[in-house]
Amino acid sequence: MQARKIIIDTDPGQDDAVAILLALASPELEVLGITAVAGNVPLRLTQLNARKICELAGKPETKVFAGAIRPMVRPLVTAEEVHGKTGLDGPDLPEPKMPLQEQHAVDFIVETLMVEEPGSVTLCPLGPLTNIGLALVREPRIAKRIGAIVLMGGGFFEGGNVTPAAEFNIYVDPHAADVVFRSGVPITMMPLDVTHKALTTGKRVQAFRKLGTRVGDATAQMLDFFERYDEGKYGTDGGPLHDPCVVAWLLKPELFSGRHVNVSIETGSELTMGMTVIDWWGVTKRPKNAQVMRDIDADGYFSLLVERLGRL
Ligand code: BDR
Ligand code: CA
Repeated sequence: MQARKIIIDTDPGQDDAVAILLALASPELEVLGITAVAGNVPLRLTQLNARKICELAGKPETKVFAGAIRPMVRPLVTAEEVHGKTGLDGPDLPEPKMPLQEQHAVDFIVETLMVEEPGSVTLCPLGPLTNIGLALVREPRIAKRIGAIVLMGGGFFEGGNVTPAAEFNIYVDPHAADVVFRSGVPITMMPLDVTHKALTTGKRVQAFRKLGTRVGDATAQMLDFFERYDEGKYGTDGGPLHDPCVVAWLLKPELFSGRHVNVSIETGSELTMGMTVIDWWGVTKRPKNAQVMRDIDADGYFSLLVERLGRL
């Protein structure tokens, strides 16, 4: 079987880090490149963190590119209260030796899509959609060449996590999200409605630690740090492990279920800025532009993660 070609666009972030580890551990996927974007922390840290994770995975040959330094229109909002000052607080990971690629992430995305066979590359955005939105504006012909976009972002039944209406990734760059959701590219979306069901309970974190490997230990340390904020916020055992849902869907889509519906992005109202307005009940004639997931087999998801990270 030929591996599926993917580009991971990311703002690591501990949950981004676990998503990257899952992808690098999985032979079904070929990671053409990792493109960093400003989000959880500024770009200089997200690109650095992406490289730290590639080295932790033992894959220093992975190409990492730096992209947009801020959202398209609005000022950057970061989330150090969740992820810590470095964005990757928890384990003590060494400074990376592997280089940052010189090419800009947006150029890499455009160039890759223009040379690879149309439909053969899947984009996996795990942060604000700035790089993807910019690429679509810069070279609109890529819209027809992208196989699919599978992204973490938004929320509907669960509401928002950064405002009552908006989830962080979409809130940070709603204008880029608007470009992406209007692009006509097939989208699969992992909103908070799914990720809030994928909690890093004590038992699940312990399973990573029990691997007895560097990757297992570092993952447990990242999750211990990452969950403390959300445990306080939601009063749950563990926090939602958002971003690996994207990669897990590529590997085992049967873990998830959802509906093909219209998703529109709020860019006008300050009160609901970045809200993903999902026509779950089909009450409008707006075109169906996204496969929106709502449920997850959380035990199956964590089993997949432990099994795959155990290979690194
Ligand atoms: C999203 O925001 C970030 O903090 C996480 O990495 C995830 O991508 C969840 O709202
Ligand atoms: Ca993220």
